[in-house]
Amino acid sequence: MATAQSLSHVFPQASRVNPHGRLEVGGCDAVELAREFGTPAYIVAEDDLRTRARAYLDAFRAAGHHDFQVTYAAKAFPCTAVMALFAEEGLGCDVASAGELHLALRAGFDPGRLVFHGNARSDSELDRAVSAGVGLIVIDNFDDIDRLDRLDRRGARQPVLIRVTPGVAGATHAKISTGQADSKFGLGPADARRAIERLAGSDRLELVGLHMHIGSQLLDLTPYRAAMAVLGDLGRFPVYDLGGGLGAAYAPADRPPPIEDFVAALVAAASALFGPGRRLLVEPGRSLVANAGVTLYTVQTVKRNVSTWVGVDGGMSDNLRPMLYGAHYEAEIVDRLGGDTLCHLTGKHCESGDLIVRDARLDDPRPGDVLVTPATGAYGYAMANNYNGVPRPPVVFCRDGDARLVVRRETLDDLHARDL
Ligand code: LLP
Repeated sequence: MATAQSLSHVFPQASRVNPHGRLEVGGCDAVELAREFGTPAYIVAEDDLRTRARAYLDAFRAAGHHDFQVTYAAKAFPCTAVMALFAEEGLGCDVASAGELHLALRAGFDPGRLVFHGNARSDSELDRAVSAGVGLIVIDNFDDIDRLDRLDRRGARQPVLIRVTPGVAGATHAKISTGQADSKFGLGPADARRAIERLAGSDRLELVGLHMHIGSQLLDLTPYRAAMAVLGDLGRFPVYDLGGGLGAAYAPADRPPPIEDFVAALVAAASALFGPGRRLLVEPGRSLVANAGVTLYTVQTVKRNVSTWVGVDGGMSDNLRPMLYGAHYEAEIVDRLGGDTLCHLTGKHCESGDLIVRDARLDDPRPGDVLVTPATGAYGYAMANNYNGVPRPPVVFCRDGDARLVVRRETLDDLHARDL
């Protein structure tokens, strides 16, 4: 029988195989969770989220840097309960649309701790952000400056950052690389200089600093320093927002740098390149939530032809990452971990690309088995959809053996709730 030790760091912290040989997350038995909440379901270990949030905060203090904000990138898991938990832990929040702004306010974030991003925001989104008192608006392009300058605003100038595209890309999937010169995001160094000059003359916008975000799922920290050097060449500012991007572990062999090392590296580079006394922001998404979440499925069918196809009750409607980025996930049967039946874990959707895990090894999978795919906390719920009329799964928080539904499962009636 598998032991607690056999669970890798891909699973939420403190997950274990209990004495009944079943996976436990946040002290809750996965078979029981499937029975109580149905499948597919997103299961989140609440303590894991808190531990990672605190790791970021502690890392700044440990690095001797006290003027900072850890800003949760809500897009990674834009669920009000997750956002409220991070607000409670003292984080700020990065929002990238009127929708995420709405959720962040609802989750209880102080508007002054919000950072508003986007490469194609409308007048009304910007207006909403300014009216809500968003702490920082990140300027992505010259049209943003025109738009913000036109907004009718009484009182104080709106603090803004300029997003700089440093021409340095992190090593990651092309679809989530953003630092390269030919990018839809931000302004290259020459354009950033022009924007800095323009903003110096603005009586409505107050340029307080620079922003960069060079990519996501980065496992090597080297590009950060090179990108920060480009920002350093643009002059001295009170505030630097260095984005997110720290990778998560999807397979046991993945060893992303620890949060402590990531923050220490940024703090050291910032003091060398920007000088002392700067306010530093980071915007982690994935590294806060990916490994806190798992998805439970139930096997519906097992078909053998050239391969063995294990069909489950979800798929590309609850996790698009394998299809979009070729992302790899682990899979296990929650009460028979391990095993050596080579199979493909497929979703229920009407296309061959709906493959959740290629070449999984499971213990003789059978219909009715509950399966888990760990590390689905980031960008799973976020990119969920109703393809094939599949209702989106619930979100369940687990802590010390208590399970709490924080988002209910969509109903069939929800599927036509917007019909007129
Ligand atoms: N800041 C900005 C401006 C961003 O655009 C992003 C992510 C983050 C922070 C957070 O990055 P993180 O720490 O999560 O790497 N859907 C893709 C990921 C897209 C990332 C978009 N921007 C995926 O599933 O891999």
